[in-house]
Amino acid sequence: MNAMIDMLKTRRSAPAMTMAGPGPTAEELETLLTIAARVPDHGKLARFRFIVFEGEARAKAGDIIAEAFAAQNPDADANAIAMERKRLAHAPVVVAVVSSAGPHEKIPEWEQILSAGAVCMSLVIAANALGFATIWLTEWYAYDRAILDRFGLAPHEKIAGFVHIGRNDSAREDRLRPVLADIVTRFGAAS
Ligand SMILES: Cc1cc2nc3c(=O)[nH]c(=O)nc-3n(C[C@H](O)[C@H](O)[C@H](O)COP(=O)(O)O)c2cc1C
Repeated sequence: MNAMIDMLKTRRSAPAMTMAGPGPTAEELETLLTIAARVPDHGKLARFRFIVFEGEARAKAGDIIAEAFAAQNPDADANAIAMERKRLAHAPVVVAVVSSAGPHEKIPEWEQILSAGAVCMSLVIAANALGFATIWLTEWYAYDRAILDRFGLAPHEKIAGFVHIGRNDSAREDRLRPVLADIVTRFGAAS
């Protein structure tokens, strides 16, 4: 086994709230996004793109989320609104992977969406390989059209994931994983 396999065998997400800096340097982030964009992509359509939230822009995005939350939850207390405001502020960098999938004469939309998911996972793997902690989240604001408009998504675009990238060196217990015997069959084998 090699170091990459060892990392993949033990990789697991870190809660966004537990993440701290330092985040990736500009050069590291460029490496991560370059790797993330290098996914199998039927028809080479590249119907995905990135929106990077870093530095002060995270607070600006948080204001947008908090504003929408307060408008939709008029009874929410100040603490709940403050939590929403910090949604993208824990990790030093959050990358939104945007799916721009749509109808195409040859390539099913489903396959374009799968490619955007692969982008998210490649970003997670690459960031962990560089020593960062990550988590791939959507949360309610990934489905809120008014927020997506203000984040700059076109009407047909969707969030495949917000990938939070930061540091978290504390040990984390693993979660239950699928048991291979439950999910693997061999075609043609007697059952
Ligand atoms: C598309 C997608 C969206 C997700 N959205 C959320 C979310 O909104 N909130 C959440 O707690 N976990 C969400 N998760 C799950 C987290 O990534 C979860 O913590 C992770 O699956 C833990 O698995 P790991 O330990 O293998 O990293 C999402 C996962 C995927 C693939």
